Amino acid sequence: MCSINMNSAMRTCVITGANAGIGKSAAHQLADKDWRVIMVCRNLAKAQNVCDIIKNETGNEQVFVMQADMSLTADAFAYDATSPCCLRGCGLCC
Ligand SMILES: NC(=O)c1ccc[n+]([C@@H]2O[C@H](COP(=O)([O-])OP(=O)(O)OC[C@H]3O[C@@H](n4cnc5c(N)ncnc54)[C@H](OP(=O)(O)O)[C@@H]3O)[C@@H](O)[C@H]2O)c1
Repeated sequence: MCSINMNSAMRTCVITGANAGIGKSAAHQLADKDWRVIMVCRNLAKAQNVCDIIKNETGNEQVFVMQADMSLTADAFAYDATSPCCLRGCGLCC
């Protein structure tokens, strides 16, 4: 799992399902608006590829990938407990 330095005033959003569809679009748009984006995805290879594209296209280096399968209760609770703002594939929680 990656380590992220959160010591800045940068707005941060955790997005599940961020490698495709609505989640990917949200990740791209928030990165473009200079948010720190934490992409929570179950497939690391797919997610890292999308992360690299978002970084290249937005110039925002504060885009990270973390692995979780949200069908697993332990993974889901771990991410909900740590996120200041969380966009899920099925909804929005801030
Ligand atoms: N698209 C629309 O216009 C629209 C409108 C209203 C509501 N919705 C709802 O919004 C949600 C997302 O829609 P979408 O079009 O963005 O779907 P999508 O393109 O299929 O993307 C779904 C994302 O969720 C991830 N995901 C699925 N199961 C997961 C799990 N167990 N753990 C972690 N990640 C998981 C997928 O990862 P993988 O790539 O690994 O599969 C993918 O990144 C759906 O519930 C849909 O019904 C969509």
